[in-house]
Amino acid sequence: MTKAKVAVLISGRGSNMAALLYAAKAQDCPYEIVLVAANDPAAPGLTLAAAEGIATFGHSHVGMKRAEFDAIIDAELRKAGAQYVALAGYMRLLSPGFVAQWDNRMLNIHPSLLPKYKGLDTHQKALDAGDTHAGCSVHIVTAALDDGPVLGQTPVAILPGDTADTLAARILIAEHQLYSRTLADFVMRERSPQWLLAQVRAHALALPQADETISHGMPCFGITKGKKFAYFSHDHHGDGVIAVIVKTTAPEEQAMLIERDPDLYYRPAYFGNDWVGIRLAGGDTDWDLIAQRLAQSWREVAPRKLTSLIDAADEF
Ligand code: GRF
Repeated sequence: MTKAKVAVLISGRGSNMAALLYAAKAQDCPYEIVLVAANDPAAPGLTLAAAEGIATFGHSHVGMKRAEFDAIIDAELRKAGAQYVALAGYMRLLSPGFVAQWDNRMLNIHPSLLPKYKGLDTHQKALDAGDTHAGCSVHIVTAALDDGPVLGQTPVAILPGDTADTLAARILIAEHQLYSRTLADFVMRERSPQWLLAQVRAHALALPQADETISHGMPCFGITKGKKFAYFSHDHHGDGVIAVIVKTTAPEEQAMLIERDPDLYYRPAYFGNDWVGIRLAGGDTDWDLIAQRLAQSWREVAPRKLTSLIDAADEF
């Protein structure tokens, strides 16, 4: 399996970045770090990353508009081929456009048990509140600060006599453990058959009069009381492939697609020439393409009265 490509954004010492980077050295780690970028060219974490042979990028945000600076970072992330972004002590509020670009692709680590204590001074806030435990959380980044679905948390007991500094130092140990494991689970989740089926299902069932059944042991999607237009194939006949199988628009299309991109398309066994398999488990699935192929496949089998209704609606 190809490793997921992760870029890490930092502002300072970058100890969480280092934890992600060292974890990524394990052969079975499902992600690799392709870039470490900082909004301060002097961030010590950049030196560490460079010494480890990772591409780095440092650029000061001072005097720049937020969206303008974020566009520079976004361009670097894309140049590096990043599929995911891990914020690790990145002390910048992000522009909505940047967050939208990385929707569901960007994680953050925060030193509190969210939803408690968003923002700064989290350790002191936990001490002031008399909490028995503080801790850290990894969450998906959404437009609101330190918000977004929590993917993992580690509670850390508060000791008598703890100060914000002693507590922060202990939580940092927990952060280093939590971030890598949660990131690994996150990138794996998107390659799991369950997650991939859920995506295919959502796209397929969004088509008019679509329903789901099981056929030949595969979840499949068809027009209610009509023909099937898509199959979800997971290790069918032990082929080890996770794919969606859709109708082509013409028998020649199958051969053409396979010739053009043999890593993506394949000839599904027992389906004949007018279906094509599209592999899904590479971690870089183009879901717009899948949605388009499903819609096309649906159109191939839909009765005329249904397609003409849709065509008429499309004209408005
Ligand atoms: C960590 O405590 C992290 O939770 C917070 O900022 C700090 C960054 O530390 N978001 P480091 O740069 O990773 O050492």
